[in-house]
Amino acid sequence: MAKVAGALAVVALVLLALSFVEWRATPMAAATEPTLMPTTVPPTPTVSLAEYGRALFQAKGCGTCHRHDGLGVERVISMDDNPGLSLAGANGAPDLTHYQPDPAFVRSWLRDPQAIRPATEMPKLHLDDDEIEALIAFLQTNPAR
Ligand code: HEC
Repeated sequence: MAKVAGALAVVALVLLALSFVEWRATPMAAATEPTLMPTTVPPTPTVSLAEYGRALFQAKGCGTCHRHDGLGVERVISMDDNPGLSLAGANGAPDLTHYQPDPAFVRSWLRDPQAIRPATEMPKLHLDDDEIEALIAFLQTNPAR
């Protein structure tokens, strides 16, 4: 009877010891598993804040009133050759090609021009904070005169 109890105790100890053994998938099994995800993810194209700002300058119509020679697009009509033209410059909008922005001022200016100069012809363009920061970043790339 003591022998049986002893044998049972040994079996229990072996089972206890085995319960601590980690069971891993064998390398062979891992290698044969089908691959569902591509192993390399293509890089996401990135655009700098200033590049985004340049695109916004065109998309938001800033170029309708302001001349800016750094837009990366040729003007179809030269404003210099057509001084009578009602666009770009004729309404007092400054040429921003060499404009050196004071970020704090431009931030509040773009948020609400009339709040700064009630008589200004520049409209409130309903830009969000990210768009304003991008436009400032673009203007900061302006070459000094
Ligand atoms: C409808 C015409 C118009 C549009 C569109 C316009 N502006 Fe203006 N902007 C003006 C005028 C006019 C002024 C001169 C403001 C004044 O002194 O009254 C001006 C002034 C400015 C100034 C100079 C402020 C200063 O005195 O330092 C900046 C910078 C500027 N605009 C940026 C922009 C940007 C960026 C956009 C596009 C998001 C834009 N503007 C769209 C007409 C316009």
